[in-house]
Amino acid sequence: MASERPPSPSQEAARAALGAAEARLITNNPLSKAQHDLAVGTLPGGNTRTLLHTSPFPLCMKQGKDAYVWDIDGHKYVDFVGELSAGLLGHSHPTIHSTLLSTFSDTGLSLGATTPHEQTFAALLCDRFRLARVRMTNSGTEANLHALAGARHFTGRRKVVVFSGGYHGAVLSFPDGKPAANTVDRQDFVVVSRYNDLSLARQVIEQTEDLAAVLVEPMQGAGGCIPGTREFLQGVRQAAREKGVVFILDEVMTSRLAPGGLGWEMGLDPDMVTLGKYLGGGLAFGAFGGREEVMKVYDPRVEGALAHSGTFNNNTLVMCAGTAVLREVYTAAVCVAFNERGEKFRERLGKVAKSSRLSVTGRGSLIGLHFTEDGTQEIGCGEDLRGKERPDLRDLFWFEMLEAGFWTTRRGFIAMILGTPDDELDRFVDALGDFLERYRDIMMLGEYGPWG
Ligand SMILES: Cc1ncc(COP(=O)(O)O)c(C=O)c1O
Repeated sequence: MASERPPSPSQEAARAALGAAEARLITNNPLSKAQHDLAVGTLPGGNTRTLLHTSPFPLCMKQGKDAYVWDIDGHKYVDFVGELSAGLLGHSHPTIHSTLLSTFSDTGLSLGATTPHEQTFAALLCDRFRLARVRMTNSGTEANLHALAGARHFTGRRKVVVFSGGYHGAVLSFPDGKPAANTVDRQDFVVVSRYNDLSLARQVIEQTEDLAAVLVEPMQGAGGCIPGTREFLQGVRQAAREKGVVFILDEVMTSRLAPGGLGWEMGLDPDMVTLGKYLGGGLAFGAFGGREEVMKVYDPRVEGALAHSGTFNNNTLVMCAGTAVLREVYTAAVCVAFNERGEKFRERLGKVAKSSRLSVTGRGSLIGLHFTEDGTQEIGCGEDLRGKERPDLRDLFWFEMLEAGFWTTRRGFIAMILGTPDDELDRFVDALGDFLERYRDIMMLGEYGPWG
């Protein structure tokens, strides 16, 4: 049997710190613990969205307002979870608030018919993201499922090339170089083992038979906020064109990063684009769209067209909220300014974390925090982190940030909220600095740490 490596001094020290932090969380959050104990009686593991489970129990929130949330034990947090990017507008944006109320009173819910609202929203989406045609869904997952079905119908082929670390929805994820156990049609996906490796991607695309589509994120979001390089993305796009397959750009997470989405910023000219998250104003939303000839497979006037069902696809609340988002709230100018703020924030975090075991990745208003043994800065794909990750440090940071009043994801993903005040961003940078100082022996590297 292979002998396990003994824990490093940093790991030994982290274990004690982590135990103490977890004990404080338990003491300070009795109502969240009681709520969790109740919830496990009806929901497997006490929740209905796996990502929200955290050990020893998740903190239970009772309210969100602007860029803040409050848990049921009475603690207030600056919200850096930002609903994994769907909460970009915060919890109570006045324009969304008034739009939802006026839609309810003036239009009503669930009309069971086409409405002018879906056409208005569709026109704005097409204009903003340069799509010839668009269809609405209830989630980003659905958007990708329908885009894939469309690409298969259009080409008459089945296989899809995706990338390790790619996440395209609840039943479409590809961690560790293979489809997750719950991925649909697992046998139809060919997974390129390294994101950002153009020659490998080209080879896989060229060699795969029966290929219908290439599905890729311009920045891997759930995979750790790892941006695709321009050269890689353009090369993959070109390889898809040469092979004659549909290039589907998953912008569910990244459409917020540039006015026309990150793909256009990168000069990609995708055949299909999938959207979701904040574009529904904080309500359940997804969309897929693209070139007219591809989207035509969904035109019910054409014989043999694909069906695209969904009771709530054109629900009035989302159609009107989405219209308000694009027209009034997240305009192109707001998008640019917001992401510039994000760039500066990320750079400041990176500077504070220099010479530590924390590396900061991302783009604009989406940020990834990575805790590794050697503090590697060379992160082009998830495989660059393999064997180096320090989940103990990641957890310690999460516990400590909660105590400092910041709600972040335990996995180390920050999705900024539009209305977060600058002084809260400053306070977070300071909190990180304090954390690194307090745990210098655990977190710092080389001459900056006690052990080297
Ligand atoms: C890139 C990407 N695609 C698709 C999805 C799925 O979206 P939804 O959770 O709305 O189904 C997500 C969700 O995080 C995502 O990040």
